[in-house]
Amino acid sequence: MKPSTQEDKVIDEGRQGEAIQSTAPARSNGKKLYVESYGCQMNFSDSEVVASIMASQGYETTRNADDADVVLINTCSIRENAETRVRKRLGDFKKRKESNPELVVGILGCMAERLKKSLLEEEKLVDLVAGPDAYRDLPNLVDEVGTGQRAVNVLLSRDETYADISPVRLDQGGVSAFVTIMRGCDNMCSFCVVPFTRGRERSRDPHTIVNECKELFNAGYREVTLLGQNVDSYRWNLSSKGEIKDASQATTNFAQLMEMVALVSPDLRVRFSTSHPKDMTDDVLEVMAKYENICEYIHLPVQSGHTDVLQRMNRGYSREWYFSRIEAIRKYVANCAISTDIISGFCGETEEEHEATLSLMDKVRYEYAYMFKYSERPKTLAERRFDDDVPEDVKGRRLIEIIDKQNSHSLEANKNDIGKVYKILVEGPSRRSAEQYCGRNGRNSMVIFDRNGVEKGQYVLVKITDCTSATLLGEYIETCPSA
Ligand code: SAH
Ligand code: SF4
Ligand code: F3S
Repeated sequence: MKPSTQEDKVIDEGRQGEAIQSTAPARSNGKKLYVESYGCQMNFSDSEVVASIMASQGYETTRNADDADVVLINTCSIRENAETRVRKRLGDFKKRKESNPELVVGILGCMAERLKKSLLEEEKLVDLVAGPDAYRDLPNLVDEVGTGQRAVNVLLSRDETYADISPVRLDQGGVSAFVTIMRGCDNMCSFCVVPFTRGRERSRDPHTIVNECKELFNAGYREVTLLGQNVDSYRWNLSSKGEIKDASQATTNFAQLMEMVALVSPDLRVRFSTSHPKDMTDDVLEVMAKYENICEYIHLPVQSGHTDVLQRMNRGYSREWYFSRIEAIRKYVANCAISTDIISGFCGETEEEHEATLSLMDKVRYEYAYMFKYSERPKTLAERRFDDDVPEDVKGRRLIEIIDKQNSHSLEANKNDIGKVYKILVEGPSRRSAEQYCGRNGRNSMVIFDRNGVEKGQYVLVKITDCTSATLLGEYIETCPSA
């Protein structure tokens, strides 16, 4: 799962007017909910489920924490610094509680699951702790706090997918939405805390996914991103060994699901994240090639360029296998942009192994990368099996080398786009000026151009004239008619 590009962004009031509710929204109970999200896109998507569950009990969302009766912080445990940031933020809310003792402060998500009751009992930071599979219980938990108890539910589930809940869309501008297609992860990469915080992998009923996408399209959305920790292992009515569970029902794999979503409308763009190199099959690439509205972009985290490190990481593929997957992408999907995640300084990483990561980057030439220093996480296989023995300064130096290389590759890729014409989905005004609008092309590059009267949600053709390593600048050509 890609870290959210909206990290640290405060979730706002939302657009209940445009949102789809599976149940009629309850009448306001006069109380306001403020949700703040950290971590990956999955957490941002979950916060929308939380807003929906709370709305059904009459809570209205607010973008102003000062107005809130209930504050919920949806947290991430992926690296130590992700937790440190949340702890600092909890300190702020603890102060607010001193002046407003009625305020309910709750912690959700991966840190809640990892630290469980200790956040209440030892650290006394919050009133309420709810793990990722316990959100239906939130209204009860808030009520329990009201009766003076400290409320906890961190039970993980084998089948909770929140399939029937229509998320209250919060802050994605009404154009692009995340749609969770599966939860949990069964992979056990040795560095990763996610299997412990999110539990077993389970897929969501494909019909509820397609219906959600249709409703989003009817509400004006023009892009969906299908989310899972490993979308390639999405399976409905199929066991992990590929056996049919219920002969009377159809089975669905990820390629088929993507096709079902692509058929919702040619004007609904489809993205997905995250693909796993060990599981990404050619049938997914074939479906991508077949539909123009499936974006030519794949996030394929490599983590390391050396087979021995990949083995210690328990990733399930070698350097050569990874290259073969890149070749397959290039064969099926012309001009596909590829991004990745890389970890520097994993346990026992030698200089030669680090050089292998740099040489892999040279060979693949990613358009974009998310790059991290290894951070040891409690309970993971790596913590139990290996020493976190690469000194901090070496991890840091290697990370800088990786980042420098990626920046030059990103700039090169963007320069390559100068002179090309791309179809952009307009997201709205750019950060710098109301007269300049921005949007992404299918390759996921952000493009900025003079507004020329266009509106968000429209598709426009833009000719690229200039770039930085992060953004493309272009000239508006024309607005595309709807299909
Ligand atoms: N499911 C996705 C990854 C989700 S976590 C996948 O398999 O690719 C997002 C990224 O955080 C990972 O790809 C990895 O690069 C990074 N990450 C995870 N655990 C980490 C750790 N302990 N230290 C540093 N980075 C880590
Ligand atoms: Fe973590 Fe690996 Fe699962 Fe990704 S696939 S969430 S890195 S265990
Ligand atoms: Fe996502 Fe962080 Fe949890 S990356 S799954 S919120 S540990």
